[in-house]
Amino acid sequence: MSIENFFNRDIVSIKDFSRQDLEFIFNYTDRVSALGQNKKSELGRGRTLGYIFYEPSTRTRMSFEAAMASLGGSSIGIFDSKSSSVEKGESLADTIRIMDLYSDVIVLRHPLDGSSRFAAELSENPLINAGSGSEEHPTQAMLDLYTILKEKGRIDGLSVGIVGDLKYGRTVYSLLYGLANYNVDIHLISPPTLTIRKESIYDIEKKKLKMYEHYELEDRVLTKLDVIYVTRIQRERFPDPQEYEKVKGTYTIDSNTLRKTKPDVSLMHPMPRMQEISHSVDNTKNAIYFKQAAYGKELRAALLALVLNENAV
Ligand code: NCD
Repeated sequence: MSIENFFNRDIVSIKDFSRQDLEFIFNYTDRVSALGQNKKSELGRGRTLGYIFYEPSTRTRMSFEAAMASLGGSSIGIFDSKSSSVEKGESLADTIRIMDLYSDVIVLRHPLDGSSRFAAELSENPLINAGSGSEEHPTQAMLDLYTILKEKGRIDGLSVGIVGDLKYGRTVYSLLYGLANYNVDIHLISPPTLTIRKESIYDIEKKKLKMYEHYELEDRVLTKLDVIYVTRIQRERFPDPQEYEKVKGTYTIDSNTLRKTKPDVSLMHPMPRMQEISHSVDNTKNAIYFKQAAYGKELRAALLALVLNENAV
């Protein structure tokens, strides 16, 4: 595996990345993070990142921008479609073609599944999927895996609980496909109406990934987990608002929950968090969701350096 494998590559789905690819990216993230500012800012100097966000974002967009700045590059983009020609009815295809003219790498978030694949085929420059529909968020999964690796020292052999909206949460699907490259036990914990969509994980490699489903955060499950990955109930993706009202406060992780877990359990969340994790646990050593967001910037800087440079350091 060499660095050329990533030059000009689209990052559309986590399914396109092997374990070897992921390990290369994680090692490369360590390397870029350790570089001095002078060396680091050679990796993106004079280059432009173009972002187009058709859905709200805080961390994803800001971390990409901050990552590009740390490489000496700059960013332009659209994050409020009301202030761009999207509001006038301009198509995704035309918007992508224009951004392709003005930038060296495109970062796209869009509500439709398949939007990034479509856009990647249109753009000459590499396209990075920053969240499409309810199926894919590949860079989030990479940063989630990187966080686990940094905090736990390994991914193989862990028990990972994934809690919350498993039906609509795209981070969950990308994370599951990412974890399928490792030897892990997965406990899926959701209300009965928000269980995982089986048709969206039909080709997951079942041999390595042992999956168990639960409706409650039962004590006997909590005691097994090394990582608890909590997700937001995706209100905007519910066809019926009343269904959202029924499930919105189903789980809350608080200090009572932490009394039943392994002492070193890691609490993760892609964020934004609603009431699923109580603020009262933010200062515990278990809460690593802010670190996770910080790792996100590092990992995205490494990805940008890889896709932009034929001979990166
Ligand atoms: C997630 C998303 O957009 O899917 N946000 C993120 O990128 N961290 C999660 C969410 O919105 O709940």
